[in-house]
Amino acid sequence: MKSAEIRSQFLEYFQENGHTIVSSSPLIPGNDPTLLFTNAGMVQFKDVFTGEETRPYHRATTSQRCVRAGGKHNDLENVGYTARHHTFFEMLGNFSFGDYFKEDAIRFAWDFLTKRLGLPEERLWVTVHHSDQEAEDIWIQTIGVDPNRLSRLGDKDNFWSMGDTGPCGPCSEIFYDHGPDVPGGPPGSDDDDLDRYIEIWNLVFMQFEQSADGTRTPLPKPSVDTGMGLERIAAVMQHVHSNYEIDLFQALLKAAAEVTHTQDLEAKSLRVIADHIRSCSFLICDGVLPSNEGRGYVLRRIIRRAIRHGHKLGCDQPFFHKIVHTLVAEMGEAYAELRDNEDRIVAALKQEEAQFAKTLDAGMKVLEDAVSSLTSKTLPGELIFRLYDTHGFPVDLTNDIARERDLELDIAGFEKAMDEQREKSRQGSSFAVEGQVRFDLDGSTEFLGYTHLDASAVVVALAKDGEQVDALAAGDSGIVVLNQTPFYAESGGQQGDIG
Ligand code: GLY
Repeated sequence: MKSAEIRSQFLEYFQENGHTIVSSSPLIPGNDPTLLFTNAGMVQFKDVFTGEETRPYHRATTSQRCVRAGGKHNDLENVGYTARHHTFFEMLGNFSFGDYFKEDAIRFAWDFLTKRLGLPEERLWVTVHHSDQEAEDIWIQTIGVDPNRLSRLGDKDNFWSMGDTGPCGPCSEIFYDHGPDVPGGPPGSDDDDLDRYIEIWNLVFMQFEQSADGTRTPLPKPSVDTGMGLERIAAVMQHVHSNYEIDLFQALLKAAAEVTHTQDLEAKSLRVIADHIRSCSFLICDGVLPSNEGRGYVLRRIIRRAIRHGHKLGCDQPFFHKIVHTLVAEMGEAYAELRDNEDRIVAALKQEEAQFAKTLDAGMKVLEDAVSSLTSKTLPGELIFRLYDTHGFPVDLTNDIARERDLELDIAGFEKAMDEQREKSRQGSSFAVEGQVRFDLDGSTEFLGYTHLDASAVVVALAKDGEQVDALAAGDSGIVVLNQTPFYAESGGQQGDIG
């Protein structure tokens, strides 16, 4: 069964059971400044669970685009290392806002998997929170699940919250057993993180709202929030063990191989690139641009991680933006906004690739030289800082390279170097140092570089030899302050543009 069909079967099944089909919300949560990205289907309904917002329906179903990179649910570092983690994925979900609770949630999930999708019962395994006798009784007595295929687990596995605050509750998860040929043990066993038993669906019994001080207050009405990763259930339905083998990834992997001139379609770096083009394109589509802070920095980290993997495959030309077209062909039908924003996505990625290309080679050389003379298994903090500050290597990019070589990072040393840098710039901003001039001006220079490579501008101020001046003559060297510019300024470890 193709992914698109699973998606539509899911939505239809829940519609037949009284749920309203609601469109995916954007990746930037409109209702929650504390949350970096939409990381689950329930995010757009957060205020409905707490009773602050009402909707004309009590049951909803969605296929929600999600990003799990940065923040509480962060899978960035796992991408490329496991068969089932992604920075971007689609979450199928059904929701009850004070309507049905545990018994119906469990029955709907079981019926969808075993009757609609036809999965054999003996391939499914369930877990409940160790305190949740009610859920356990429903699974064993009402549904008839074999008690030998049920595990009781603690908060780490079976208590779900969206972030540090917000609706939360105990959950019950359904796992699929990929069979004895695949290594791994059932949930709760020592080797449950291997690939045999894979969590496919999480049923959250929303009962509390968590506040910033950690206290939990009961929600007005117990509710249900479920999440099933489309890519994982597609792997089950398509009889493959890795999400990267499902239909949704085939064209992307091929396109990534083509633009990086890679023959080996199994290369781990191709999977990283195929994963990252999805999160990066959807993030840009939803209004994020690469920058040095907040959401923009997470995007920059993902793009640079992808570019480094291209570099690892031997690619020394910009390639990443060239895959957008294939992504739009694959997903533009389900997400029209992706198609509408294709040009903008390509332009932003191209710009970031051009910028990182200036420092990547030199940074890799610094790193290789340092690795070849290492006397321990740890990359020193000073080096991590230099790569970050001078060559624009986000720390997780350096970590990704280190992990490939079985090395660790001296994060404490990196943070110390960062603190020293902050202290220096704090002092530098109160005392003029050579080459710096303090201008007394209002406003800031608008950066146009994501969309323009040239532009007209107004000269706002001039300086020469450390002093503000009214004019510069031909042949003088000085500083020009403009109201707007497509030139990227030197900052946050990036070199400034030259032109
Ligand atoms: N909201 C349920 C989950 O993300 O697993």
